[in-house]
Amino acid sequence: MTEVHNHVLRRCQSWLASLDTQESLGLALALLTAALTFYWKARGSPNIVAPLETHKTTPLTEKKLDNEYEKYRRIREHRIRTRGEGVIRVLPDNPGLVKSGADAVIEMLHELAEYLPRRFPTTFEIERHSPDRAFSHPGWDGMPPVKSIRILPLGCSYDLPLDVSDGENAAVRALEIAALLVQEDLALMIEGTDGRYYFQAGAITVAGFWRIQDKIGLPLDEIHTSGDVPRYKDKLQLSMERFFQRLAVDKPVARNNYFFQVVKPSCAEDEVDPEELGWAESSHGPEDAFVHAHPAHQPTRPTPTPATVRLRTERQTLRRLARSGAIVFTIRTYMTPIERLSKEPGVARRLASALRGWGEDIGAYKGKPGGGWWDVVLDYLDQVVDEEAGNDKEDDIKKMETYPF
Ligand code: HEM
Repeated sequence: MTEVHNHVLRRCQSWLASLDTQESLGLALALLTAALTFYWKARGSPNIVAPLETHKTTPLTEKKLDNEYEKYRRIREHRIRTRGEGVIRVLPDNPGLVKSGADAVIEMLHELAEYLPRRFPTTFEIERHSPDRAFSHPGWDGMPPVKSIRILPLGCSYDLPLDVSDGENAAVRALEIAALLVQEDLALMIEGTDGRYYFQAGAITVAGFWRIQDKIGLPLDEIHTSGDVPRYKDKLQLSMERFFQRLAVDKPVARNNYFFQVVKPSCAEDEVDPEELGWAESSHGPEDAFVHAHPAHQPTRPTPTPATVRLRTERQTLRRLARSGAIVFTIRTYMTPIERLSKEPGVARRLASALRGWGEDIGAYKGKPGGGWWDVVLDYLDQVVDEEAGNDKEDDIKKMETYPF
């Protein structure tokens, strides 16, 4: 193995270390406030988010896997089993324009299998191929590639395809394994001959309000314009395209967003996905009948109350794979009841102020007019603000000028 290869592998290890692995509500709230801060910073300008206001991710060094790992896995597994191609796709070559996402998927899975047991040794265990044979792509540190990975607390194990010709549907199998190892949804973007990045493979199991079938195969700009993302053409498109072309292997970035989502008032104990993480049916109607456009329309929506509104926030990361050059886009979603949010001093006031700062187009995209939750959320937040003003908390908040932002 060459020096250069070793160097690239070390870089990969460091960027993989930035996969999202928070463990508690406190940390989820920290992420949430980061998402809100992100928005508030942009609030002075008319942007939905500051265009490309991404930040470098930093390696996490001590955390365990998220305490929602098993719950997320159950939901993801259920959706893969019941929806198949509706959540996992790997496109073949589009001749003359863009390559298949298959090679990149296999590369991504092997990177994950190298990283996870190093980072979470009590959760993941791997077995390697025998050193006696030759491999087209070795594992990290020059070792033979990973043969199988086991999730110790769940007692399940997966054999990793070595390449795209290793058994039937090797790339789809690899993507499914990757989707079950981590909590993130995964989209692989491949550069086309025209310099644009195409969505050529993805495991989009819990997107909530968009479907892989409406976006797969599209270039970055059409993914966004087909969804009427506000101000995409004038504010985001050019900088995003440049950003994708320049993204370096060792410079992963992250961004956050947020939405509001209504859930059903009460849920059966045994329901797999009572919070509608996979598909926001109470806000957007049945997944199969979804009309791909905003604003969402759901005539039979349950009447929202403070107890049934969730803040849905995503932490997204972008990173380039060293060998294929593909860009991996990861999406980790958090659902936080607004009633829990307002327990954090000062958050209600800031959130209410952020909402009141939305422009009309942003409001329309995020479901303000048709979502039914707008007045409920603002009335609730205002009430919390009044309560905070009437008790000692207001002083605490003033003392914590910078907290938690
Ligand atoms: C620098 C990278 C990116 C930026 C700055 C960005 C920005 C945005 C923004 C502002 C929105 C509106 C919702 C929100 O606030 O998040 C959005 C929606 C979306 N983005 Fe991106 N995006 C990026 C990369 C990607 C990639 C790589 C994909 C690949 C699948 C993607 C897929 C989507 C989809 C499917 C939606 C929903 C569109 C709809 O409503 O139909 N984005 N993006």
